[in-house]
Amino acid sequence: MKKMWSGRFKNESSKLLEEFNASIGFDKNLYREDIAGSKAHAKMLGECGILKQEEAQTIIKGLDIVLGEIEHNKFEFKIEDEDIHMAVEKRLSEIIGSELGGRLHTARSRNDQVALDFRLYVQRSSLEIMNEIYSLISTLNSLSSKHLDTLMPGFTHLQHAQPVSLAYHLLAYAFMFKRDYERFASSHERNNLCPLGSAALAGTPHPIDRKIVAQELKFNGVTQNAMDSVSDRDFAMEILFNISVLMTHASRLCEELILWSSQEFGFVTISDTYSTGSSIMPQKKNPDVAELIRGKTGRVNGNLIALLTTMKGLPLAYNKDMQEDKEGVFDSVHTALTSVHILNEMMKEAKFNEKNMLEATKKGHLSATDLADFLVREKNVPFRTAHFITGKAVAKAESLGVDLSELSSEQLKEVDDNLDENAVKFLDLHASKEARTSLGGTANSSVQKQINLINEWLKNLR
Ligand code: ARG
Repeated sequence: MKKMWSGRFKNESSKLLEEFNASIGFDKNLYREDIAGSKAHAKMLGECGILKQEEAQTIIKGLDIVLGEIEHNKFEFKIEDEDIHMAVEKRLSEIIGSELGGRLHTARSRNDQVALDFRLYVQRSSLEIMNEIYSLISTLNSLSSKHLDTLMPGFTHLQHAQPVSLAYHLLAYAFMFKRDYERFASSHERNNLCPLGSAALAGTPHPIDRKIVAQELKFNGVTQNAMDSVSDRDFAMEILFNISVLMTHASRLCEELILWSSQEFGFVTISDTYSTGSSIMPQKKNPDVAELIRGKTGRVNGNLIALLTTMKGLPLAYNKDMQEDKEGVFDSVHTALTSVHILNEMMKEAKFNEKNMLEATKKGHLSATDLADFLVREKNVPFRTAHFITGKAVAKAESLGVDLSELSSEQLKEVDDNLDENAVKFLDLHASKEARTSLGGTANSSVQKQINLINEWLKNLR
């Protein structure tokens, strides 16, 4: 078949080349963006007098027909058409005639066309992912409101450290996901510029008005250097990075759900709807969803590294290597959308086992720091000495086979004279959580402020 670019060629390309070269298999995913971009371009050509207004209108109508065909599965994607740009243009020419169809590509190149299509896709996908993150944060925040008094151990090194509330722990994730949302939003804002009209790499002598295209496609403005516009894929690297961070946060939450749903922890029961069984062990209920999200974080990180690596040695401007930019992004976007969505559903249905969490706080001497803080604040003992005395109290509890919080006033006094009758109330685990009133601390007053802050933020976005 004769190629659109075959003017200077004597021989036809090999079948092997055709298949190796084609991106239609995956860039057909960009059909909406491609057609929207072409319609805006045609409109601009008409308004600038480069095409007659009627010609522009005929092209736009033709493009709508092509769109309808694709959406109703009546469009045949063919390897010989190479990519979505040429496939759409070829079909347009069949519909409106090649004399007029052949005028659409005036003042444009596939280089700025693909830069536009891909950017539009990345922008739309960012907004979709932000929506999913928004819902997840809402879920975490409302769960937090219900669990201000659900006491659980806070961990460092996966060892019991200090008592916290489940609300506090979940809010830590809410704040991570809030930053993720903001990261997508700031990338969206930065990249909201239209590259079309950059042509192959150097702009065009035709009297175009790039601002018309930008406005039509709802960009905030236009890019400023044609060579940059067709050469860089930083907007794609940004969404891949944003997805990697988002998935890393999701993965850590999932890792905790996996640990917490184990026999050893028993902190959470993941609903049957989001668990699976074993083909051999009838008793098993596995947290596959959480494991898959944790696992898929590996592949989105791979996609990020792949694109960074593809781009790092390319001379300006467009190089065919850049055709490799798309599949990883499509994959990461799909992975992020589905992962965050299902994580949200799983969180909504998870049952937190408050009794087991409370029981766990009674192991590991969680109020030890409180006892040391008591010595510092009420007995004017230097913190290092207080740390040592408390260590002795812990050793005593261990030798008696009890938790520090279970020591009596008398037993404390035997450790050190400073541990008088006032000391014992500092061992209470709820009191320990409530004592941390510092900004960002575990006390309910502080946690409620965090919940309110996120609620306000969520409200302002709607
Ligand atoms: N299919 C190509 C891509 O995805 C479109 C741009 C082709 N441009 C070119 N000069 N060959 O990158």
